Amino acid sequence: MPSSHPALPRIRVLATGGTIAGAQTGGARGYQAAAFSIDALVGAVPQLAALAHLEVEQVAALGSQDMNESVWLQLAARAQAALADPALAAVVITHGTDTMEETGYFLNLVVGSAKPVVLVGAMRPATEISADGPMNLYNAVAVAAHPDARGRGVLIVANDEIHFAREVSKTNTTQVGTFKATHRGLAGLVHAGRLHLYAPPVRRHTTASAFAGPLPPALPRVDIVYAHAGMGRELIDAAVRAGARGLVVAGVGDGNLNAAALAATAAAARAGVAVVRSSRTGGGVVERNIEVNDDELGFIAADELNPQKARVLLMLGLTRTADPAALQEMFFTY
Ligand code: SIN
Repeated sequence: MPSSHPALPRIRVLATGGTIAGAQTGGARGYQAAAFSIDALVGAVPQLAALAHLEVEQVAALGSQDMNESVWLQLAARAQAALADPALAAVVITHGTDTMEETGYFLNLVVGSAKPVVLVGAMRPATEISADGPMNLYNAVAVAAHPDARGRGVLIVANDEIHFAREVSKTNTTQVGTFKATHRGLAGLVHAGRLHLYAPPVRRHTTASAFAGPLPPALPRVDIVYAHAGMGRELIDAAVRAGARGLVVAGVGDGNLNAAALAATAAAARAGVAVVRSSRTGGGVVERNIEVNDDELGFIAADELNPQKARVLLMLGLTRTADPAALQEMFFTY
């Protein structure tokens, strides 16, 4: 977007679709995600011209339920290329909220730049009453344009909040305050473009990540299995037969499994499949060797990561090693 202010930072907006670009299809209920182009979204917020020189790129146009590893790799490559330009200050990524936390955490691990990378989405489509997308986009650009946002890892902006991609999770199906960070809290607040940043993240990211740099051509298959009362072993065995190199169990409570699931995951680990115990509870730390003997079974505890983020780290980890001890160290590091 052209701006008359020469001192404004240059920011690349990479668009992927989502509800922020969604249009209602008729009645008040249904809508189609990714209906509007990034030019239309940026054009709807003329105030952005006072924040930054924006250059836009449509990387994908999908609802984020269709996000996948190949788009992640493409997006990471586009972000890395943009950030390598010394004249470019930051990257903003428009994205559906459903899987934004996974994309954000992936980029947090593979993009080796201290420059801000900010993901933004919306819960209401662009044509909805009181759509949240325009203010979220404005705030995201304000965060990305601010020098103090550097070095904090990949951020997610929505509902006047700034979140660390590693910490945040979508917790509500429809409400605009869906993003919550249950463990280490908010990265900050942003009100109409004014930032209040809190402490930087503790876990390693971006410039300090061993995964930053050249991207792998593809990611290994890792499946998530959801535990429940009366669980059988069949889905675990099916995942292994389908070629999974890693399994994340969304375990009950502290990442626990019943006897049938434990027998199946133990067999998978003996066969060389990396097994990570996470939790379906939505909060808390899964520690090693509490009710499950991880040392004996060769399992990995997810530490603070929820199942979907544990899957991201395990996929990247498996591009380096299949050794459970080395993978466990990654879960304590990232
Ligand atoms: C999506 O994730 O693409 C749909 C939901 C949303 O963006 O809020």
